[in-house]
Amino acid sequence: MFLSTLNIKNIFINFFKEKDHLEIESSSLIPKNDSSILFTNSGMNQFKNIFLGIEKPIYNKIVTIQRCLRAGGKDNDLSKVGYSSRHHTFFEMLGNFSFNSYFKKSSIEYAWELLTNKNFFNISENRLIVTVYYNDIESYNIWNKNIGISKKKIFKIGDKNNRKYISDNFWSMSEFGPCGPSSEIFCNINKNNCNYNLNLNKISDEYIEIWNLVFIQFNKCKNNNLTELPYFSVDTGMGLERISSIIQEVDSNYKIDLFKDLINKLRKKLNIKYNNIISLKIIADHLRSCIFLISDGIYPSNDKHGYVLKKIIRRSIYHGKLLGVNFPFLYKIIDFIDDNIKYFYTYNINIDFNLIKNIIYLEECKFENSINKGLIILNKKIDEGNTFIDGDFIFLLYDTYGLPIEIINEVCNIKNINFDNKKFNKLLDFQKNKSNSSKK
Ligand code: ALA
Repeated sequence: MFLSTLNIKNIFINFFKEKDHLEIESSSLIPKNDSSILFTNSGMNQFKNIFLGIEKPIYNKIVTIQRCLRAGGKDNDLSKVGYSSRHHTFFEMLGNFSFNSYFKKSSIEYAWELLTNKNFFNISENRLIVTVYYNDIESYNIWNKNIGISKKKIFKIGDKNNRKYISDNFWSMSEFGPCGPSSEIFCNINKNNCNYNLNLNKISDEYIEIWNLVFIQFNKCKNNNLTELPYFSVDTGMGLERISSIIQEVDSNYKIDLFKDLINKLRKKLNIKYNNIISLKIIADHLRSCIFLISDGIYPSNDKHGYVLKKIIRRSIYHGKLLGVNFPFLYKIIDFIDDNIKYFYTYNINIDFNLIKNIIYLEECKFENSINKGLIILNKKIDEGNTFIDGDFIFLLYDTYGLPIEIINEVCNIKNINFDNKKFNKLLDFQKNKSNSSKK
């Protein structure tokens, strides 16, 4: 039976409600009173003070669908979007949380039941493998003895480069804050041809991580020191787009129902001259970020959140150019994707499509004026056959013509051109120092 992303959200929420969890609304993409992260990067952020024992929860078992953004700060997937079939700037995270209630055993049992039971996600057990933090014997034994997973499908993951607690299986919210060992569940993307000969030291690329179960026990303080928290908690996170791709049996997050609809609409309405799926993916992904960032009160600017939004809008415009779409176009899209947004996202926020359109339109006009000249000059240089461009030239494009460095990077990457980054950064530093001393 086909499960839409909406069905998947509902099954997730109802499963945990049945297990006595309280559903709580997603928090904003902009963390409240917390400068340790730029954007909400996971479901647990809004509960940080509860994990730390500073605040009391309204209930000790919670379930959420959290809107997240990984485009700046600790987690930044911006440049991967388009080239990867699994990364997003904006995405939704399904999560269940326990505060001083259940711990490792129940969270592992719940996750396994939801994923594999035919009344829920019905994923074949054969496709799943798991990881644990290398010294987390308790989780290892739960997977092996209680769930019955064979030892060759349980991977112990250690620290990276001998740096304590820096590991794929030790999760922390940011440089400081709640953290703990985690156990991750991976699914084979190949439904009919699972590789059972797993090498214990290496998880092959056929497996993608679908659910992270974090056992919050510590507060990470200065110098990577951990202090034990007053009680143990659970924080889990499952990316909606990834799990939907598994359940809907497609090989890319961008082929699930909500993206299929979005990308089809872009294709139909945009008068595209060049069929470039990378650019379409980028525009589809970035539009979601724009819509929810603006709805959460962010406008394009040169500062922090606003700067990230500006970069996201500009990257979309640049990719519109690669599709041969006539300027201005991005703001127009809002009119024909509003039904997609109203249908697939059920947040309790006001999405003012007119405001979003106006903001994007203004940004498009500003950007168009500033970048066109720079892009023409850069493309001319490349068309002349230069495969390596010197740093002074790049600095001129950046400084005099206002061409953002991310766009310069992207054009050069696409066209396989290198430039003297070292020289460029030197000139940039020199300019910054000059302007700092003149300010003084
Ligand atoms: N907070 C954990 C994560 O984002 C679950 O992976």
